[in-house]
Amino acid sequence: MSKSACRQTKRTSNPHSDRLAPSQQHHRQFCQPRTATTTATPGRPSVNLKYQQRREMLSRSQRLTRAIARQQICRRLGAAAANTALARPLSTTIPLLTTTPPPSTWTSPYPSSTDFRSDVVTSPTASMLHAISSATLLDDVFCEDPSTISLETRLASLTGHESALLVLSGTMGNQLALRALLTQPPHAVLCDERAHILEWEAGGVASLSGALVQGVVAGNGRFLTLEDVKRKVVLSDDVHACPTRVISLENTLGGSIMPLDETRRIAGWARENGILMHLDGARLWEAVIAGAGGLEEYTRCFDTVSLCFSKGLGAPIGSILLGSKEVVKRARWVRKSIGGGLRQSGVVAAAARVGVEETFLGGKLKRGQEMAKRVGEMWESKGGRLEREVETNMVWLDLEAAGVGEEEWVKAAGRRGVKVGGGRVVVHYQVTEEAVGALGEAMGEVLGRERGEGGGEGKKVGFKSYG
Ligand SMILES: Cc1ncc(COP(=O)(O)O)c(C=O)c1O
Repeated sequence: MSKSACRQTKRTSNPHSDRLAPSQQHHRQFCQPRTATTTATPGRPSVNLKYQQRREMLSRSQRLTRAIARQQICRRLGAAAANTALARPLSTTIPLLTTTPPPSTWTSPYPSSTDFRSDVVTSPTASMLHAISSATLLDDVFCEDPSTISLETRLASLTGHESALLVLSGTMGNQLALRALLTQPPHAVLCDERAHILEWEAGGVASLSGALVQGVVAGNGRFLTLEDVKRKVVLSDDVHACPTRVISLENTLGGSIMPLDETRRIAGWARENGILMHLDGARLWEAVIAGAGGLEEYTRCFDTVSLCFSKGLGAPIGSILLGSKEVVKRARWVRKSIGGGLRQSGVVAAAARVGVEETFLGGKLKRGQEMAKRVGEMWESKGGRLEREVETNMVWLDLEAAGVGEEEWVKAAGRRGVKVGGGRVVVHYQVTEEAVGALGEAMGEVLGRERGEGGGEGKKVGFKSYG
């Protein structure tokens, strides 16, 4: 092949492909400059010989690694599995062999153990790492990954829904659900005015679904009631109206529980009026652990549900979207259209599964809730006021009433090695007793000092602390 033909091959080849066309292989083999030359100094091996020796050494160590790999897989999974695993390139078989988690930050105390800013900071655990290393590595866009399918099936069964879809985040779960439920404008989604889909999802309901969001004030300050919904819902098909097609509830909302009875009242009324129901259940786990109702009792009230694995459950990534086969099929389609199609999603599914089995079903969330109660009591015992009752894992300190500025509070906690983001203190099961003690000391400092007029510095207009 001539040099110009080689250049031509280079220019027309796909830069994103890691496969080489036959002409490209020819280019690699015959047209690229060689780094090893054949010049030899008398008494010393030629460069080519050294190169060959290095390659031989490498292949010897690879052979040894393969032998060890075979032994380990045979012991754990049998000879057939060893043959299958070793049929793949060595680099893909090594992670399979992890039998004990490597020493790292994957073990307690976790980076999250002193962090009260949110439960999204929870660190993936050693057993998640272990599960990831044993996950299947097939493609989820092709719907063929066993770890992912098994997680989806498990969640569908736990929640009484027909089908499930693993997605990358809670936002993605909510947005895909709404997009899949809605058809075409004019249409509106009704929710609590503080809801995540309205306040914290970058206006996705408007941009992705073209829907109006009807925010409703909860009359009791805690959760929406059917009476609140009826005040704002639009049933009319008048040409001026934007009819409510979906009611989206959030549970927990800022740590407050949406009671099961009220959920059932709203869902029953919505059904009678042809309105679909979505649940942002990012932290539904917390409501269930607090004894508000069973997981399935809640999830059955809704056409679609999104649950998060990456908050209190501790998984690094992922949420699940639940619904009918038809809706989930549509959501899968939308997921692909926004670049959310997953390839080797088993690594995500495996950690999420541990979050469900060990953290939620294993009962670990209770500890976070007990500590949250104590944090609230500590604040009150030092003269502070709470904005809301502590129902699950969130504590709302009324900094303003205490004349304490957010920055002052954050700094007082920081000096004692704990992180807070503002008046909302989020407790999770990985927080240590020492961190709770340090938080108490910081409370003592900010509540104990003499106040001048005007109290602490307020927030800038238009900025809110994360909700
Ligand atoms: C109630 C609620 N829903 C949805 C989300 C979105 O989750 P993600 O951050 O995974 O997109 C959050 C995030 O904190 C949340 O609090």
